[in-house]
Amino acid sequence: MSKETSKLRLRLAKNYEELCQDVVRNILALSEKIIALRGRFAIALSGGSTPKGIYALMASPDYRNRFQWEKIHFFWGDERWVSPEDVKSNYRMVAEALLTRVDIPPGNIHPIRTDHENPEISAAFYEKELVSSFNLKNGEWPHFDLILLGLGNDGHVASLFPGSPELLLTNRLAVPVVGEKIEPSRVTVTLPLINQAEFIFLLISGREKAEILKAVLEGAGNNSLPVQKVNPQDGEVLWFTDQSAA
Ligand code: 6PG
Repeated sequence: MSKETSKLRLRLAKNYEELCQDVVRNILALSEKIIALRGRFAIALSGGSTPKGIYALMASPDYRNRFQWEKIHFFWGDERWVSPEDVKSNYRMVAEALLTRVDIPPGNIHPIRTDHENPEISAAFYEKELVSSFNLKNGEWPHFDLILLGLGNDGHVASLFPGSPELLLTNRLAVPVVGEKIEPSRVTVTLPLINQAEFIFLLISGREKAEILKAVLEGAGNNSLPVQKVNPQDGEVLWFTDQSAA
């Protein structure tokens, strides 16, 4: 079983399989609590490779019949500017691991669409989707019940990269991330949106994450890394990691 250490709320699993079990158990418990309270559970999914096993476990015989899929709304924290059939697509990764394997009402799936003319238009459409799905009044922020985030080796979360101007934006829900070093371009939610979440699960597994995790926990870069700016004012961050990363 994973154990929780220190006020940082870092949960240490023996290995990736145990990390996935711990994350899915926590997602299930949280979804049951929130659905009982508010009738709906809004989750923003992470892309990348770490969460694949988590999404697949949610769709497995052990869990598929325990989630109230019709009351769960799936959003994405970021997307690569590729077709949804592209192997790089975060939508495709989630569709293969989860969406095509369980019965989720299509209206509950809110992808960042990449069939617009450019990433800026895509980001604007996604902001509209957030406003309508969360029924936001002018200037209000969506409060996700849970946001899943992976951790890049450079300390990025979603598609908020170190030193990027997008990190400083305070008046946008979602933005394009374009640049010669950003291949493919991205669309990402912003830091203020992330920090409005009730719960944030950081998913960090594997030996290749040991260095960045150590640096982050030691406050490297005088807390300027994107992951170090994940600090929800009224929410909680749980770090799910495993022994090879920690
Ligand atoms: C993406 C993710 C990105 C990812 C990290 C960690 O679109 O790739 O949003 O932020 O979570 O880069 O990726 P891994 O889980 O593959 O290590």
